Amino acid sequence: MSGFSAAFLYLLVLVSGSCLVAESAIGVNWGTLSFRKLKPSTVVDLLKDNKIEKVKLFDADPDVLRALMGSGIQVMVGIPNEMLAAISSSTAVSDLWVRQNVSRYVVKDGVDIRYVAVGNEPFLSSYSGQFQSYVVPALQNLQQSLAKANLSGYVKLVVPCNADAYESSLPSQGAFRSDLTEIMTQLVSFLNSNGSPFVVNIYPFLSLYGSTDFPQDYAFFEGTAHSVTDGPNVYYNAFDGNFDTLVSALNKLGYGQMPIVIGEVGWPTDGAISANLTAARVFNQGLIDHVLSKQGTPLRPGAPPMDIYLFSLLDEGAKSTLPGNFERHWGVFSFDGQAKYPLNLGLGNKLLKNAKNVEYLPSRWCVADPTKDLSGVTNHMRIACNFADCTTLNYGGSCNGIGAKGNISFAFNSYYQLQDQNAQSCDFDGLGMVTFLDPSVGDCRFLVGVTDTGSSGFGTGPRWIIIWILIIGGMWVFLI
Ligand SMILES: *[C@@H]1O[C@H](CO)[C@@H](O)[C@H](O)[C@H]1NC(C)=O
Ligand SMILES: *[C@@H]1O[C@H](CO)[C@@H](O)[C@H](O)[C@H]1NC(C)=O
Ligand SMILES: *[C@@H]1O[C@H](CO)[C@@H](O)[C@H](O)[C@H]1NC(C)=O
Ligand SMILES: *[C@@H]1O[C@H](CO)[C@@H](O)[C@H](O)[C@H]1NC(C)=O
Repeated sequence: MSGFSAAFLYLLVLVSGSCLVAESAIGVNWGTLSFRKLKPSTVVDLLKDNKIEKVKLFDADPDVLRALMGSGIQVMVGIPNEMLAAISSSTAVSDLWVRQNVSRYVVKDGVDIRYVAVGNEPFLSSYSGQFQSYVVPALQNLQQSLAKANLSGYVKLVVPCNADAYESSLPSQGAFRSDLTEIMTQLVSFLNSNGSPFVVNIYPFLSLYGSTDFPQDYAFFEGTAHSVTDGPNVYYNAFDGNFDTLVSALNKLGYGQMPIVIGEVGWPTDGAISANLTAARVFNQGLIDHVLSKQGTPLRPGAPPMDIYLFSLLDEGAKSTLPGNFERHWGVFSFDGQAKYPLNLGLGNKLLKNAKNVEYLPSRWCVADPTKDLSGVTNHMRIACNFADCTTLNYGGSCNGIGAKGNISFAFNSYYQLQDQNAQSCDFDGLGMVTFLDPSVGDCRFLVGVTDTGSSGFGTGPRWIIIWILIIGGMWVFLI
């Protein structure tokens, strides 16, 4: 939208007396916890080809930000929870963070940074409050650092919260968790005085995954046999119910009109029974259509969330599987930038466009040698799967049911690709062999890696040392 029409729309909204901006945009989360990453410039081209104009990051990786320079894409950079203590206790630290990670990029032909996410779900119950007290002081320090850099009008501070920050059985009864009342009161007052939205992550998938009682059709947007009646209002999907619970919680603190941004929302495609391609497509398309219809919710009719950031752009094969095996499979695109299912983002293209010029390793795979006795393979498999991603082998995964030998081959191949197809990495004491025939079976894909020459971080340093220690340790176990 041009500046002129944006200004015009803004006037219209003001004139019509509504204080909520009724224009939603669809953005994406770009996480980088992958062992094999696409070059950041390839990802930026992927964003542009799909007309995605808003992206949310979890840190301020210089490689990623450099690739975003001049792209015109609006960016939310992130401050990891672990940095909040330092930033909250020192304005020098916060000034430096803003200089290094914001000001130096917000220049002509630089990066259009619009938001800084201060922490990521810092109030999550499972963190037992360890980051809680740093959030508001960190916000205050960062705000003055932004002001010093003359950016406080342009770059907004936000705090992405998990939906576990509030609770209620009915949306109209929503309230922030009692242990957060004081912090939330300070937080929303801060957000309000700086013109920042409340950012929340909403996951109907996790509600369904976590509870056998949760009615499946209530997680989606197709109508439900389990609608929730709340006084005069009826809820037909979990997303609206959750959203209005937050509206009620904000209302209780006197900020019922505060704009809301959905920081993360999405559906994984693998690693659990309810995580599959069909469910992900139906959920994401239903969500996008619902939000773009501007229908809103019973407590905010005609006023959908300001922006929503899909979780996620790409699969991240190095994420912790603590929440579940699905955690590495949230991408709308696979790790190599290929669309997993048809999706209309509502941004102009009817379908997703795949990443271009992806640099793959050669078309070869590592599998178990069928002529060998594989009875002693357990330790090799364990080591391979400790490093590479084998989550699809488990119950509910796309490779569950490919048999014992299939399991071994899958583990060998995943490890081999992770090691850049290094010949030694397919040895496994002579049990592995390289093949040029794609061993994929049905939906179970045996991947070929990509070369990630453009990025830094993983692949060097301690990880390699650990791998070698384990390989040597593993071989040693085999020798005795
Ligand atoms: C800038 O952000 C990066 C990535 O989050 C971080 O590693 C670095 O320490 C930050 N710079 C400062 C000065 O804090
Ligand atoms: C601060 O920013 C505003 C626009 O946001 C600009 O007009 C002004 O010149 C800037 N001041 C300085 C000192 O850079
Ligand atoms: C995919 O997920 C949906 C929704 O959770 C579930 O009902 C369906 O059975 C799953 N499909 C397969 C093939 O597992
Ligand atoms: C393959 O591995 C998965 C995950 O460890 C396991 O659930 C399954 O039973 C294995 N299949 C066979 C035939 O051993």
